[in-house]
Amino acid sequence: MNAIQKGEDLRHLFVIFGGTGDLARRKLLPSMYDLVIETGIGDDCVILGVGSGDFDDETYRAWAREALRDSGVSDAGPDGWIDGNVHFEHLDRDATSFDSLQRRIEAIEEQHSLPGNRAFYLAVPPSSFPSTIDRLGEADLAEGPGWTRLVIEKPFGTDLASAHELNDLVHRWFDEPQVYRIDHYLGKETVQNLLTFRFSNPMFESVWNRDRVESIEITVAEDLGIGTRAGYYETAGALRDMVQNHLTQVLALVAMEPPISFDAEQIRNEKVKVIEAIAPIQPDDVVFAQYEAGVIHGQSVPAYRAEDGVDPESATPTFVGIRLEVDTWRWQGVPFYLRSGKRLPQRLTQIAVTFRRPPLCIFHGHRDGCDIDPNVLLITLQPDEGFTLRFNVKAPGEPLMIESQALRFSHDDVYGHLPEAYRALIQDVIEGDQTLFVRADEAEASWHVYDPILDLDTDIYPYEAGTWGPAVLDPSLALGATSWIADD
Ligand code: BG6
Repeated sequence: MNAIQKGEDLRHLFVIFGGTGDLARRKLLPSMYDLVIETGIGDDCVILGVGSGDFDDETYRAWAREALRDSGVSDAGPDGWIDGNVHFEHLDRDATSFDSLQRRIEAIEEQHSLPGNRAFYLAVPPSSFPSTIDRLGEADLAEGPGWTRLVIEKPFGTDLASAHELNDLVHRWFDEPQVYRIDHYLGKETVQNLLTFRFSNPMFESVWNRDRVESIEITVAEDLGIGTRAGYYETAGALRDMVQNHLTQVLALVAMEPPISFDAEQIRNEKVKVIEAIAPIQPDDVVFAQYEAGVIHGQSVPAYRAEDGVDPESATPTFVGIRLEVDTWRWQGVPFYLRSGKRLPQRLTQIAVTFRRPPLCIFHGHRDGCDIDPNVLLITLQPDEGFTLRFNVKAPGEPLMIESQALRFSHDDVYGHLPEAYRALIQDVIEGDQTLFVRADEAEASWHVYDPILDLDTDIYPYEAGTWGPAVLDPSLALGATSWIADD
């Protein structure tokens, strides 16, 4: 199979299975278009949308223009890029369809004088991953005249066994260096910035350990509900949908050791070690909950069980809070609190690193005794990307009053609008950089952590939409944290 080297010929055919689907419309086409404009790789990139829909090149181009308009991008391309570079191929479910797909791919490559480099993006429902991969292999499409890359969307399996089985199937046809498992959180600029922040600022790295850190919270809060995705979400729930992938990836970047170089394999090696070091999660350290009707941003929203397509008796959790520990020399004994939920008061992805308080209290005159706030570093990944460091100062006057104040760096103020995560990831696929993609062993290590608690027979607490979680049982108290911190 083809070795992948950075710096090789970028001219390629980008084949999107699920070419008329929601992901292609909302994320992939706008991101590719943005990439084409921003990087000037227009002539290097030809798209082939593949799907069961009744489209031809012309109608698909019109559909693509509409997708760009809907996502706020102009539809005029550099020199009519869409007209020249976007194609469509109808695909039936039978295997012979892949033979005609192969012929079409070769015809387009000839038409555009492409060298045979191909990326196959599986933007199809997970249930179609196995058959699509098998048929690609059977049609001799896993190996082409140039490089061939396979991009697989999440969720990668639904538990450890299914992820393992899917990895086996992928590896039947593709070598691991050809495989790009997507976790779109890794494409977010501020998630990538975590590595730069940690490993280019020795000042912070020197306190990034159990001696100085009291606890770490990772919050991924969404104000949205499940939209039109009941079919998928009912079988997934918050743990499979968000924690096994996005929150665990963020945790790995926060807790990993410095890699020996900024190379994909070195970084991924360190991430896997952290995930493998997560101690078994105890049932008492998990809180599941589901949203009831409530009010968000002044709008009434229905209960989860009243959403379209949801079983009125559903026990699917839309919120999960977990306390876990990472058993390494660096982190032993430091609690990591993970929480993620839908229909919370606001959209917020944030890491809160709480440092230990001073070892001795010398401020006997302080109004609040020795109850001074700890230093906290807040890393906000969205929506107001940036870093906030809370520290204590003396407020003017007497008696002595110590107040927590903040130093803040806002990404937006300095660098302006951040690109869509998918743009960075698609660019990496084209350039053959696997750093921001989940390796086979990493996907399985992550399922290994959560497998024992996936189907716990436990209470699903109700919480009112628009609140931070279950009201009767404050998840933070249940998990032993003193409070959840939110950037305010
Ligand atoms: C997806 C989940 O992976 O991430 C969705 O399936 C969730 O349920 C989404 O809404 C959140 O992504 P973002 O980028 O909006 O934080």
